[in-house]
Amino acid sequence: MIPPLVRLSGGGQSLIFAFESGLARLVWWGAELSAMEAEAAVRLADRGIPQGMLDAGEALSLHPCAAQGFTGFPALEIRRDDGTFLADPRVTGVRGGADAVEWRAMDRLAGLDLSVKVTLDAATGVAAFKTRVENTGGSTLCLDWVASAALPLDEDEALMFDGRWAGEMRPVRARLTTGTWLKDNRTGRTSHHAPPFAVVGAPGFGEDEGEVLGLHLAWSGSTRLVLERLRDGRLQAQAGELFLPGEMTLAPGEAYETPTLYAARSDRGLNGLSARLHPFVRDVIMGGRLAARPRPVTFNTWEAVYFRHDLDELKALADRAAALGVERFVLDDGWFAGRHDDTTSLGDWRPDPAKYPEGLSPLIDHVRALGMEFGLWVEPEMANPASELLAAHPDWSLKVAGREQPLGRGQYVLDLTRAEVSDAIFAQIDSLLRAHPIAYLKWDMNRDLTHAASAGRPAVHAQTQAVYALIDRLRATHPGVEIESCASGGGRADYEILKRTDRIWTSDNNDPFVRQALQRAFTIFFPPGVMGAHVPAAINPITGGRSGMALRAATALFGHMGIEADPRRFSLGESERLAWMIALHKRHRRRLHSGRLIRLPHPDPGASALMATDSEGALVCFTQLAPSMTATPAPLKLSGLDEAATYLVLRIDPPSRPSAMMKRSPPLAEGAPATASGRVLVRQGLPLPVLRVGGVALYELERIGDDAAFSGEARLAPARRAP
Ligand code: GLA
Repeated sequence: MIPPLVRLSGGGQSLIFAFESGLARLVWWGAELSAMEAEAAVRLADRGIPQGMLDAGEALSLHPCAAQGFTGFPALEIRRDDGTFLADPRVTGVRGGADAVEWRAMDRLAGLDLSVKVTLDAATGVAAFKTRVENTGGSTLCLDWVASAALPLDEDEALMFDGRWAGEMRPVRARLTTGTWLKDNRTGRTSHHAPPFAVVGAPGFGEDEGEVLGLHLAWSGSTRLVLERLRDGRLQAQAGELFLPGEMTLAPGEAYETPTLYAARSDRGLNGLSARLHPFVRDVIMGGRLAARPRPVTFNTWEAVYFRHDLDELKALADRAAALGVERFVLDDGWFAGRHDDTTSLGDWRPDPAKYPEGLSPLIDHVRALGMEFGLWVEPEMANPASELLAAHPDWSLKVAGREQPLGRGQYVLDLTRAEVSDAIFAQIDSLLRAHPIAYLKWDMNRDLTHAASAGRPAVHAQTQAVYALIDRLRATHPGVEIESCASGGGRADYEILKRTDRIWTSDNNDPFVRQALQRAFTIFFPPGVMGAHVPAAINPITGGRSGMALRAATALFGHMGIEADPRRFSLGESERLAWMIALHKRHRRRLHSGRLIRLPHPDPGASALMATDSEGALVCFTQLAPSMTATPAPLKLSGLDEAATYLVLRIDPPSRPSAMMKRSPPLAEGAPATASGRVLVRQGLPLPVLRVGGVALYELERIGDDAAFSGEARLAPARRAP
């Protein structure tokens, strides 16, 4: 029995699927509808059939196919050796509940079964779409393309993400006026330049305004994102795994499962979208792991010493880091056998005997005696040609016989689809974790996949799954060890890797002038608790740009905070300011990592403002990244507050002397506390100081009364203020 419609409800909204002529269509995604309204929505979804097209029209189903007369980008493309190229799966059974629906569609002629599952998270309203294709025919079935789902779009302004190494998550806006936007990522990792995420919304949608649909394909291999305006004006989005030619072939009885496409909708712009996605990532994708323990403030050795590892120097760095308030010390690249630059030794995961004659224990003991955890950098998927591993097993890398395999950062990708290779790498990492109290692995991955074949067959899909399996196996064996996902910075940031990792290294670029925008875009889809954000040196090693400690630390403050510099080179003033910022981070850590992060809009394009809020109060940061456009900045309108409650507001980093930038600053900007209702703070906003480029203004808000009539005493202790 196939019902005419199925209604899923959750997160204050409904999704309505209509089943007609064996096709499943999503006809409504919006406010929660009653059963009667749902029927009306299905009736009104009939747009008729125009002239000049096929007589039956072109249904935009969850898997529109050419065999159904669909002339847009099809969601399923297949081949068989006998010439079969059309697929026409028709729904034969539907099972539905309030928060999940599953249907099966069969095509006997093409010999395939399609199973589609859609779940709606009741708490956040995030939907998950997953499709399975089974070869029910008698010969090999080749899948050229299977979208996790095709979703109809109501609006036509797209926000996609471009980028590069050290410049991830660059937002690109485009109107979907005609034809197809194809974001193909063929790098075999989530990529710096074409991550499979997008937001499509009402033209001009902003942080707080406009109806938007956010799409995120959870996959860490090659991917495709399709946004298309069909010839009759309708719009669709698709996402799925991108296969190498002939890569996905199914023997009779075999099946392929797509990655999950997560999608969420909001009628309150990007902040509304993040308000659904952040808790969903924390609670569902990551299973609530992060809530169990505050995210430890981290020191990472890379930009402090690079490959120059000296035990005494590293101990001195640990001493300095601990004094600043650091809770986790991570030994980056350069610690293992023969690794003095990036040309050798990946694959040989034991301490370098010259740098660590007594192994890692003396350093680890020192770090732990200072009260910090110890973390270690590894790049388990790779090996250099100059390594004992590849010398012993030259055939262990992914390669195409007879072709020269290009190097990437001087390294090859190990063929983890082979059990003996994966076992050998597992054994090395496992023995390190058994031998030492290592609490954290920075898991790096520093090259694209090319010539990715195993036993003569294309293998990006299998390799991606093998990487997941290796991480899963290590996690199962060492459940207490946290893992960071790094791929030359943020090249592997997606929801599938986050199911098995605890943090993402957002970018190798720590320059706050770049990071502010990068992190702002990153937080559309990712909660700040997983966003590795480190305080760099004053002169940035990647951009050459210079920045003050206030901006550098304020930029790291809103993520999972850390240090990526030699703290011995910080001046006394810089160290004092950083220690204060780390203490501030710890004081607001719960709010920053479990509360609500809001990207506050401000009319000055050279300014950027963030706010972390919960029921008790908020932390607000305003930064000036380019010269202000106006003589006085527009007030900063806050958000996410209880409008009826009263808040005490204090600027916690007022200038030590009255600001020379104004004849008279707003008293709040000079450090005078103020009380105001949420309503006033939201509608009128905070009066801001005029800041120099690189300037920061930080405010704490404390909820001091439940009604707007409350007039309380200023209770924030002066000790909270910056040194
Ligand atoms: C990559 C990472 C860096 C650092 C280096 C070490 O580039 O993104 O953070 O770990 O490798 O080689």
